Formats: sequence, C-alpha cells, structure tokens
Amino acid sequence: MKDQVKELLYQMLETELGGVQVYTTALECVVNDELREEWTKYLEQTRRHVDVMRELLAKLGLDAELQTPGRQVVHHIGESLVQAMQLAQNSGGPPEAAELVACECVVFAETKDHMNWELLSKYSRKSGDRDAPV
Ligand SMILES: [Fe+2]
Repeated sequence: MKDQVKELLYQMLETELGGVQVYTTALECVVNDELREEWTKYLEQTRRHVDVMRELLAKLGLDAELQTPGRQVVHHIGESLVQAMQLAQNSGGPPEAAELVACECVVFAETKDHMNWELLSKYSRKSGDRDAPV
C-alpha cells in the first residue's frame, strides 16, 4: 500500500479521535435541546468511527498508535478547536455565543472528516480492489 494511503488512514483515525473531543466539548457549550440531541447522536457515531478506523488499521497490519507528521497536524487542529470552544465558554459572554462557536467548530471538524472519507472512497474506486483498504 502506498505511503500516502497509509497517511490518509492515520489522519482519518486522528480526525475521528479529535471529533470525539470536539463533540464532547461542544456538548458542554450547547444550550438548545434539539442540538444537544443531535450532537449526542453524532458523538456516538464518531466513537463508532474511531472503532472502525482502529479495526481497519489492524486488518491492514498497521500500528494504530504510530504518529505521522500529518497526524500530528490533525491532532493539533482538533485540540485548537477544543480550546476555541473553551475560550468562548469562559469569556463571560452569553451562553448562546459559546454555542455558536461550538457550531462552527463542529462544522470544521466534520468538513475534514467528510473530506477524508470522500478521498478514501475515490482512491478505492480508482485503484481497483487489489490495493484498496476498503
Ligand atoms: Fe466520523
């Protein structure tokens, strides 16, 4: 398997791990009940995605703990999103403002997540069955 594909898989795991942190923090900022319900659902889904990625890496004989430069960047961005929400939460402003910041952070996190899966499925379609991880 190409190194770039391995890199993508590691970034995918890291994105899901960051996603769990993002949703957990976002749920501390939430005011609206429907949004709380929605994010609780997505937190569970993201936890399942972490398991899916760990299983996929194991199936391919890849060490899920291995750090790559790209993975560290993804990790840093995830942490920054969490910090941004905490900053908004502790700013002394109205809770709705922190909720809005949380909405933005969730969008950032999910955008990367969707791009990862999109890229992996494009790669799988193009490369045929032999080299495709999924
Ligand atoms: Fe996900």
